[in-house]
Amino acid sequence: MYKILEAKKLAENIYLMNVEAPRVAKHCEPGQFVIVKIDEKGERVPLTICDYDAEAGTVTIVFQTVGASTKRMADLKAGDSFRDFTGPLGCPSEFVNEDIEELKKKNILFIGGGVGAAPVYPQVKWMKQHGIDVDVIVGSKTKDMLILEDEMKAVSGNYYPCTDDGSYGHSGMVTTKLEQLVKEEGKKYDLCVAIGPMIMMKFACLMTKDLGIPTIVSMNPIMVDGTGMCGACRLHVGDEIKFACVDGPEFDGHLVNFDEAMKRQAMYKTEEGRALLKLQE
Ligand code: FES
Repeated sequence: MYKILEAKKLAENIYLMNVEAPRVAKHCEPGQFVIVKIDEKGERVPLTICDYDAEAGTVTIVFQTVGASTKRMADLKAGDSFRDFTGPLGCPSEFVNEDIEELKKKNILFIGGGVGAAPVYPQVKWMKQHGIDVDVIVGSKTKDMLILEDEMKAVSGNYYPCTDDGSYGHSGMVTTKLEQLVKEEGKKYDLCVAIGPMIMMKFACLMTKDLGIPTIVSMNPIMVDGTGMCGACRLHVGDEIKFACVDGPEFDGHLVNFDEAMKRQAMYKTEEGRALLKLQE
């Protein structure tokens, strides 16, 4: 059992939990994820790692309630436990293995959309810990939906919040902020890492392709086993079929077939609806 040490609501439908999981915490690297199960019969839910502390033996997860399982998870409190907490899964971000001095020469931009700010955070923190200042654009629908702002500000070189309704920071999408930084402020980027809803990643990639900025995205398709066996998370990257759970979750965003990935994600909407109704019965 994996004990929840802290549970809090970050914004409407977005929750953070700090979980005691020493073995997972010891091996975590930026870019990876975990799969959790509430109980024996629970669904396996892939979740973003937002932070980890190898010494304290804890892993922080952030999730949005999108279906029956995450709704049940949101009811868990400090002192409750997860039945399974498997990870870290997936490959670490590529930059983890790059030469630090070479990385320091690059201008790097991170873009986090909605709950995507959570997986961006450990990557930006890693950069800061290695003496690399990066620019960060974080977008949400409204000011109240913006998460981890203080944490992100503390590790970013430049931090640019955006809201769709203009209630805070730049008024508009993360992509319009990116365009403004490059075209109006003359910023030059050698690498962009964009994580968020698939539709956001798709449009961020269309823009970075136009601007000639290599871009990495983190894919969050439906996952079942998380070990490359079931095929649920398959997607097309260029001409190749990849499994997000073992080949990713990070891929070259300019090669990902987002339209196909979004269609696959929508396939399970009816099932999710049924499960939610059952939960309310
Ligand atoms: Fe089953 Fe990736 S989740 S192959």
